[in-house]
Amino acid sequence: MSHHEHFLLAGVMGWPVMHSRSPKLHNYWFEHYELAGAYVPLAVKPDGLEKALRALPALGFAGCNLTIPHKEQALRIVDHADARARRIGAISCVTVNADGSLTGTNNDWYGFVENLREAFPGWWADAGPAVVIGAGGASRAVVDALIHEGTKEIRLINRTRERATSLAHALDGPVTVLDWDKRHSALEGAALLVNTTSQGMVGNPALDLALDALPRTAEVCDIVYIPGETPLLKAARERGNRTVNGLGMLLHQARPAWRSWFDKDVEVTRELRALIEATI
Ligand code: ATR
Repeated sequence: MSHHEHFLLAGVMGWPVMHSRSPKLHNYWFEHYELAGAYVPLAVKPDGLEKALRALPALGFAGCNLTIPHKEQALRIVDHADARARRIGAISCVTVNADGSLTGTNNDWYGFVENLREAFPGWWADAGPAVVIGAGGASRAVVDALIHEGTKEIRLINRTRERATSLAHALDGPVTVLDWDKRHSALEGAALLVNTTSQGMVGNPALDLALDALPRTAEVCDIVYIPGETPLLKAARERGNRTVNGLGMLLHQARPAWRSWFDKDVEVTRELRALIEATI
């Protein structure tokens, strides 16, 4: 049983929120480590976000995660945010401090890197150029992670070029913005390809990308995890590239949250991965 005096509480705020796998993921850890606690879905409308966040200390929550559409707005509400979260322009996690103030962090970049490390043992960021497709919120965390890990050349391509340009500007790293129609040839000599767009996700068409120029030694990551193998990953795997979907990013971004909420290191076990995979 738990050695804690009180019931450990955390949750995820989103709108909608019931599709989120996070409650299943975090509640696994309460059970696995025999801790008395719960992680709940919190259906919070955008105009109620500030009140909901400010209620966390009074309710005894250690903190919460944020999902669509709250990540950017929450950054403006919290009392403190680390440099990383400010650079990315979004927070994925809030921690309640002892004095009731709120600290915001972004753990998505961490999940992205740990997912690559787990899937591709020996992966290192400056193995060669990285091509990142998409320039939305997820892309900001991915590009920031690659810059921070030491990738020397990042080719950023988005359907709407201006979004890629402003992302490159905000993150200030070795990022080259290329036109959407250059996406096929941009794969030449790449060591890593990452899809951060919603293309390939269930209900959406496949990402329109010809892989012919991509070296077969390149690693391919799709941050989408429903379906488990997007058309992009299937095409890459069939031509011999090593591939990974985005499920590990979801699993690993949850670990630093436990460190800051409950001062505990938690593990992504095979059992946990299978539990979440079974819901996909
Ligand atoms: P997220 O926060 O999940 O990254 P987002 O901010 O809405 O979501 O970004 C979605 C990304 O998918 C964007 O890069 C978007 O491109 P645009 O900036 O041009 O909208 C990309 N995307 C969405 N639909 C697309 C399509 N049909 N073809 C190519 N890219 C698409």
